[in-house]
Amino acid sequence: MVTKSKSNRLSVFNLPSVSRMLFPNGIKLLLTVTEIFELEFAYYESKTLSKEELIKRGAYFESIDGIETFHSKICKETSKALFENCSKSTISYFMNGVYSTGYATHGLFPYRGKFHPQMIKALMNIMGIKEGETVLDPMCGSGTLNVEASLIGVNSIGIDKNPFACFMSKVKLESLSLSLELLDEALKNPKEIINEFLKTKQVKEKLLLAEDEESKIKRLFLLAFLDAMGYARRTTKSITLLFPQVLSRYIKQVRSFLIISRKLNLKLGKGKIEFGDARDLSMIRDASIDCVITSPPYSFAIDYAENDRPQLEYLGFDVDTLKNEMIGLNGKSRKEKLQKYFEDMNRVMSEISRVLKAGKYAVIIIGSNDIQTGGIRLENKIKEFGILHGLDLVREIRKPIKGIRNTMHEEFVLIFRKEV
Ligand SMILES: C[S@@+](CC[C@H](N)C(=O)[O-])C[C@H]1O[C@@H](n2cnc3c(N)ncnc32)[C@H](O)[C@@H]1O
Repeated sequence: MVTKSKSNRLSVFNLPSVSRMLFPNGIKLLLTVTEIFELEFAYYESKTLSKEELIKRGAYFESIDGIETFHSKICKETSKALFENCSKSTISYFMNGVYSTGYATHGLFPYRGKFHPQMIKALMNIMGIKEGETVLDPMCGSGTLNVEASLIGVNSIGIDKNPFACFMSKVKLESLSLSLELLDEALKNPKEIINEFLKTKQVKEKLLLAEDEESKIKRLFLLAFLDAMGYARRTTKSITLLFPQVLSRYIKQVRSFLIISRKLNLKLGKGKIEFGDARDLSMIRDASIDCVITSPPYSFAIDYAENDRPQLEYLGFDVDTLKNEMIGLNGKSRKEKLQKYFEDMNRVMSEISRVLKAGKYAVIIIGSNDIQTGGIRLENKIKEFGILHGLDLVREIRKPIKGIRNTMHEEFVLIFRKEV
């Protein structure tokens, strides 16, 4: 009941708080929830999950009825490991980053234009994806969807045309279930492992494909090495100097996840990463996928092949050949580039619709700006293609993209449902 004070003004203190209006008693949001879109996703999660599910797989909650959520525990463990000897102010400065993008194995190798993992978890929750179902990202980049799916027991397929992105996704995914004991053993002799990377192309090729536990650990070391290579190009420091620092951060991050995963007894979903083309998903059967979540290159905003040139060349791939196959990188004039981009995205949307089960959801996350596209709104084109291929748009959420390096400042979360 709103009362009036003596001065005849309404007293707002009689109104319930916004969070009390949105969430039932006992639901406590994470302190890092500061954006409107996060509140919106948290609200939808609270409407779709039971209290027990909110504890086990909710993305934006600290505790439910006083019980700390798995998400909070996992993030806390990562923060603890990464900021072991740091001051409280440093920890609180970096905390937001860990809770939204840096927990579990997401923080290994910073990939430009990657998803907000926390939001991806919330999306899977909102769309009612259950343990054992299969989700797909046909342009998986650093494998954010695959890692998130695995954390909540959902199976996944990730596809990318960039072999380095595939390698990175595979490492982030398989590092969730490494043997802690073998990892500690490998740490006794990191030099021996690094020497292997310097050997012939055949040795590297074998390492990329091997499925034994030791090779998985070696691949984690190799990702740290390739990460150090990227830093070395931007600073005056050498790889030899940077590699131990990067490796130490990787190990802390992975170890902390393996420890908390054991404590929580997490049942991880299975993930598969494949090198392939989102315009032709013929390796996937019609109507076999329970949900697609993907984020295409935002027209030609980021050159994903050039960005990863040193790593791709180190692994033995030809960057210029690769560019011909990548969406957003072809055509001479702006007009030609856009035309090719839209042709490609039309094919991608058609393939997404084909592989999706009827009545299930596809989410496309796309940034927009009309400077590079001469006034054309990318999100409107995607909506057009979706509708053309039997995908009804059921919700559109606009959110900010932060960071000064970004050429785009807003992105759209477009939720489609395949016609029944
Ligand atoms: C915006 S990024 C995806 C980032 C990803 N969501 C993540 O969280 O890391 C777009 C991705 O599309 C990939 N890509 C470009 N052309 C492709 C194609 N023809 N088939 C599959 N993937 C492609 C790029 O290599 C890049 O990794």
